[in-house]
Amino acid sequence: MTDVAARAEAGFRQAYAAPPAGRWAAPGRVNLIGEHTDYNDGFVLPFALPLRTVVAAAPRPTEDWTVWSELTGETVDFDADEVAAPGRVTGWAAYVAGVVWALREAGHPVPGARLAVASDVPLGAGLSSSAALEAAVLTALVDLGGLDLPATLQPRLAQRAENHYVGAPTGIMDQSAAIRCRAGHALFLDCRTEQVDHVPFDLDHDGLAILVIDSRAPHRHADGEYASRRATCEKAAHLLGVPALRDVPADALDDALARLPDDETRRRTRHVVTENQRVRDSVALLRAGEIRRIGPLLTASHASMRDDFAITVAEVDTAVDTALAAGALGARMTGGGFGGCVLALVEADRADAVGVAVAAAYAARGYATPTRFTALPAAGATRLA
Ligand code: GLA
Repeated sequence: MTDVAARAEAGFRQAYAAPPAGRWAAPGRVNLIGEHTDYNDGFVLPFALPLRTVVAAAPRPTEDWTVWSELTGETVDFDADEVAAPGRVTGWAAYVAGVVWALREAGHPVPGARLAVASDVPLGAGLSSSAALEAAVLTALVDLGGLDLPATLQPRLAQRAENHYVGAPTGIMDQSAAIRCRAGHALFLDCRTEQVDHVPFDLDHDGLAILVIDSRAPHRHADGEYASRRATCEKAAHLLGVPALRDVPADALDDALARLPDDETRRRTRHVVTENQRVRDSVALLRAGEIRRIGPLLTASHASMRDDFAITVAEVDTAVDTALAAGALGARMTGGGFGGCVLALVEADRADAVGVAVAAAYAARGYATPTRFTALPAAGATRLA
């Protein structure tokens, strides 16, 4: 298949019989560690994938927007009335309309535009295809309109589109990764202050690779389960008298747990508090140049998601266990859970063997054949030349 930017451009020319004014790209992401910590005001450590969504776009003189999507071959139109309030535009185009809505709501004079979208980020794999779309559209509109909206403020706006227009109660991680990541680095993000630190993550230099395995497990009830985890965390913070679980230090965990009323709330809390600590420990190791030593933290994160946060499924547990048995230095599910992808830190020359072992374990259990790729940290949203 041709390059994604060429496909977006060709789609634009075909849909509108004119060339675009430019092309803007934003990546999918994997989260190295720090799961379900973002909406608890905690810490995350994602990095951007080389897989990107590209928007080819051109301004138009009226407040109308038309979007063509390679995926559906469909063109969707909406005008200022339809983005005056959430809910009017639905399906995939809601991510685009949501960005226009959020920009207008924040007082920005959004230019009308024609857009064409193509993407290499797989949908429904937990690699943040939705944030990549929001970020690519946002970057395009900010650029086309010359809007005064620095990159540091863009993730919050894209998150508003997702939370309020699309209606998914996600945290700030995915949009931050899509917009703020840097090539060769993982993004250490404090989700309360939105301060970032670009932590060098030079896998190549150390002869290492991150193997990403798509479990292809169907997302079972993922939306409802995500919302219920979030609600339990908020309840726990309320019971503990803190603004968010971020405010429970790891060394005060036992005291905090003793004050919570039931086993489920205690387990959810323990995951978030220990996960925040694992993120900080991982950052310290990366800064010290000790990439291999984050392996056990990744694996501990998975155990915590499986046993305490209860968001893994048999397919992802199988991928993690098999990767570890085949020599991975650490492995964990990445993303919101209930399916999606597993990442494994491996010696680069073992990546294939680990992938083959997971595929064999899936075949033996009758699971769908997993797909896999290795990924180096790529850049966040940008205008293409
Ligand atoms: C999804 C959400 C993120 C984050 C992760 C879990 O990807 O979009 O905000 O909560 O799940 O870490």
